[in-house]
Amino acid sequence: MKKRQYNVLDLFCGCGGLSKGFEMAGYNIVLGVDFNEPALKTYAYNHHGSKTLKGDLSSAKTFEEIEQIIGRKKIDVIIGGPPCQGFSLTGPRNFDDERNKLYLAMIESVHRFSPTAFMIENVPGMATLYKGEVRDEIVRRFTKMGYNVTCKIICAADYGVPQIRKRLVFIGLKDSTRGFEFPTPSHSVENYVTCEQAISDLPSLVDDIGSDVAEYVMPPQNDFQRLMRGECNVLYNHKAVDHKQFVKDTIALVPDGGNWKDLPKGVGESRKFHMAWTRYKSDRPSRTIDTGHRNNFHYKWNRCPTVRESARLQTFPDDFVFIGNKGQQDKQVGNAVPCLMAKAIGEELVKYLK
Ligand SMILES: C[S@@+](CC[C@H](N)C(=O)[O-])C[C@H]1O[C@@H](n2cnc3c(N)ncnc32)[C@H](O)[C@@H]1O
Repeated sequence: MKKRQYNVLDLFCGCGGLSKGFEMAGYNIVLGVDFNEPALKTYAYNHHGSKTLKGDLSSAKTFEEIEQIIGRKKIDVIIGGPPCQGFSLTGPRNFDDERNKLYLAMIESVHRFSPTAFMIENVPGMATLYKGEVRDEIVRRFTKMGYNVTCKIICAADYGVPQIRKRLVFIGLKDSTRGFEFPTPSHSVENYVTCEQAISDLPSLVDDIGSDVAEYVMPPQNDFQRLMRGECNVLYNHKAVDHKQFVKDTIALVPDGGNWKDLPKGVGESRKFHMAWTRYKSDRPSRTIDTGHRNNFHYKWNRCPTVRESARLQTFPDDFVFIGNKGQQDKQVGNAVPCLMAKAIGEELVKYLK
């Protein structure tokens, strides 16, 4: 008998890291919604069975369009990572402030589609914002709508992602007497996947900055690299930034895992803040991938990571192709939920949907 696939709606889908992880866990992603065109192009290119909608989720019109696309289909799960810039509580718990409208979009969608479950992902700072009042208000709102809500800060590295990336995740289960239990970590500090294990097989690009479509130069060196390559035999998005000579000379002075503090006096002083001139540490997971600020460098080569290297650290499989210019691609990768973390949550959530 064919296994039932649960239907998912992904709001603020970006390029679709969260969708990809749920797809890997066996879900059917019906629709991804975002207002960023390049991210949606990447989403459409890589999620063949899903539709995309370009729309502003703070507008009621977008919800009408979502309803039209979904038609009579039952949405089992709503997933989403609304940005929380400028999140504000003006006055006593004024959650309905204009600036919080993107969170309200998640509430609105759950209200309209009444899914069996929802997942919201956000930065860990959301947990303590206004002494936890924002988090508590989100839980309260969904609880009032009949959901049993659990929230927890989890770390991507615990689920096989070569990156220390902590995220606050809310899971709501409709009419459930039990709360969601987050998946048991598959990894711990002793066996975290390291930067070197994640990207050592990718060309160094020391003599040539490479191109968007290229070839692998060596076989995969370990299970992680085999997993990322899958059946893929073309190397996409592995193109280096053409750094100025002074950048290459400066980073050459920073050791594996070091930063600006390791530079001799008078060198690299134009960037002298906390994260400046940081090299990934080869035998550790990377720090949180950003959206391309160019402060992080390869653990060995004198350049920033390529989009493919960052994508590896976010556990996007190698056949996931990023579209747009380099800045847009970096943003898509940096904004995403790591696929393997999303997959672990999706696999656990299935147990509650049956
Ligand atoms: C953190 S990213 C989501 C990443 C995504 N969950 C993933 O795993 O790839 C947030 C997304 O929200 C989108 N966004 C921000 N404001 C929006 C709005 N008003 N309407 C629709 N999308 C919006 C941004 O374009 C961005 O792609």
